Amino acid sequence: MKALVKRRAEPGLWLENVPEPKVGINDVLIRVHKTGICGTDVHIYKWDSWAAKTIPVPMVIGHEFVGEIVEVGSNVSDFFPGQIVSGEGHVVCAIDKDVAAIFDPFGNAVHTALSFPVLGEDVLVTGAGPIGIMAAAVARHAGARFVVITDVNPFRLELARKMGVTVAVNPQEKSIQEVQKELGMQEGFDVGLEMSGNARAFRDMLANMAHGGKIAMLGIPAEEMAIDWNTVIFSMLTIKGIYGREMYETWYKMTVMLESGLDIKPVITHRLNYAEYERGFEVMMEGQSGRVTLDWETI
Ligand SMILES: NC(=O)c1ccc[n+]([C@@H]2O[C@H](COP(=O)([O-])OP(=O)(O)OC[C@H]3O[C@@H](n4cnc5c(N)ncnc54)[C@H](O)[C@@H]3O)[C@@H](O)[C@H]2O)c1
Repeated sequence: MKALVKRRAEPGLWLENVPEPKVGINDVLIRVHKTGICGTDVHIYKWDSWAAKTIPVPMVIGHEFVGEIVEVGSNVSDFFPGQIVSGEGHVVCAIDKDVAAIFDPFGNAVHTALSFPVLGEDVLVTGAGPIGIMAAAVARHAGARFVVITDVNPFRLELARKMGVTVAVNPQEKSIQEVQKELGMQEGFDVGLEMSGNARAFRDMLANMAHGGKIAMLGIPAEEMAIDWNTVIFSMLTIKGIYGREMYETWYKMTVMLESGLDIKPVITHRLNYAEYERGFEVMMEGQSGRVTLDWETI
């Protein structure tokens, strides 16, 4: 079968023929139809210091996918050949395949956005990458009043606007304080969703929170990050780290929100054939994309 392989400890990925996995008694074999390129895959492609110390080579990469079960092990009684499934064993029905291919990052967005109640609250999202944009859309869907998102990348700010945020702002051009004033906000944001991993963005967020504000942090900083702890203490802020998704509560919420009208499809800006993977990584590294998916159905 074809796969993208991190064959050597250097930048790049290689499309190779690899042996099909053997199905153990508790396993299912999935014929992958579409995949998403995750930011983590980009780290692995670039072979930055995180990837070099974390990823053993050789390795077949990729973890965002949708596909069809083609074989089940002898112990498996609740899954069947022909079922369409996404990551984490979630059986999807009536959900668009493009969306199912990005259930993993959508799960990160939902987990973070719903970490604190947002109904009627003002929400600040720092980082309009695909996950930040999806989290902003989730916050709106869940009844937030204002959802303000920041990024330094005009392409992504435009994408966030298309997804229906209240304001998408480049903090290098206009301060978040100014945006608050324009919206008639008095006390700062009730909920912050940190989705950039960028220290400046996080400090901007801290400076714009209301007293008693709550921050959920998904963005992964590249290194240690100094902040003014006085702000945290005297504004009585709560900061909560977020990792991955909650099994399976996040998945139920994701499915219900999609079924009740949340549309995250615009965040997929490029649908490419698997053989065009180099272009997919290129647009992601240039920041000229939302989520990129690869189609493996034509093999
Ligand atoms: N905790 C977890 O389980 C988990 C899982 C997946 C991803 N992540 C992390 O979540 C974050 C979001 O993922 P993504 O795929 O959307 O990432 P991404 O890298 O595509 O998006 C991050 C965005 O932050 C923006 N940014 C940079 N500096 C900024 C600043 N000063 N102000 C505002 N925005 C700024 C970038 O332009 C970019 O658009 C990343 O840091 C990723 O590593 C964490």
